[in-house]
This record gives sequence, C-alpha cells and structure tokens, in this order.
Amino acid sequence: MYQLNYRSKSKSGIDYKDLEDILAEANAQNSALNISGCLIYHNNSFVQILEGRKKDVLHIYEKIKNDNRHHEVTLLWANDVDKRFFKEWHMAYYRPNDSNLRQFVDDLLLLTELSEKPSSSLLTFWASVRKILLGGNIKELERV
Ligand SMILES: Cc1cc2nc3c(=O)[nH]c(=O)nc-3n(C[C@H](O)[C@H](O)[C@H](O)COP(=O)(O)O)c2cc1C
Repeated sequence: MYQLNYRSKSKSGIDYKDLEDILAEANAQNSALNISGCLIYHNNSFVQILEGRKKDVLHIYEKIKNDNRHHEVTLLWANDVDKRFFKEWHMAYYRPNDSNLRQFVDDLLLLTELSEKPSSSLLTFWASVRKILLGGNIKELERV
C-alpha cells in the first residue's frame, strides 16, 4: 500500500462547480482503481492524500499534476504504508467550516512551508481529519 500527500494552490476564480467536477472525476477514477483518500480545500489551497497501489497512485498523481485547475503542486510525502487512513472514502472532501478547524488546516499549511519533511506531523494531521470526518470532536484532537 502506497500513500502520497501533496499541496497546491487553486486557480484563481475556482468555484463550486469546479470543486464538484473534481470530486466527481476523483470518485469515478479512484473507485475504479481502488484508490482512497481525502481532499481538503482551504484558503485557495488544496491538500490531498491518495492511497492505493503504488502504480495506480502515481498514475493518478501524474494526471493531477497536469490539471490546470491548480498549480504549484508540491509533493509533501510519499511512502509505503501498512494500511489506509481513508478506507471508507474514494475521495473524502473536507472544507473546514469553523475557526478552530480553519486554524488547524492553516497550521498544517504553514508547517508544510517551513519543514522539508513534515511526515510525522502530516500523519497526525490526517489521523485528526479522519476523526473529524467520522464525527469526532476537534477539542479532543491533537493539534499539529
Ligand atoms: C485538486 C485536485 C484533485 C484531484 N484529485 C483527483 C483524484 O483523486 N483522482 C482522480 O482521478 N482525479 C483527480 N483530479 C482530476 C484529475 O486531475 C483529472 O482531471 C481526472 O483524473 C480526469 O483525467 P482524464 O480525463 O485524463 O481521465 C483532481 C484534480 C484536482 C485539481
């Protein structure tokens, strides 16, 4: 099992329809390839985790890198892992909607700018996002 994380900046003027299209494409192709993951959109930035067979993840990542709905695609971390974080979703979508959660994602984005290899913090971050998606409470979560 292979896991890959990147961040990018959305194109200017990206709208709700673009996001819907991206998610529809992601869900269609990811389910065909048994890829799971999560996409976060915040402050004109995307952060995404993709997980699945290495060959498939890299194939999808190549397509994503060439997509003109975003730019400055920066690989944060990629590695073999034992298990999936987001097995329930072909592409979970997360847009932080209160100030605590926004701060939480801001912290991650800042961290990825400051640190060359933010791997352990990234994993903590995704574990926290997973809990949020499953209905956990942000106050119980460790902050990155
Ligand atoms: C931020 C972002 C995330 C994306 N995530 C995925 C994804 O998880 N899976 C996927 O198949 N396509 C994803 N896409 C869309 C791909 O870039 C591409 O448009 C899509 O795979 C269709 O490619 P095709 O027309 O060559 O089949 C994403 C695009 C963007 C901008």
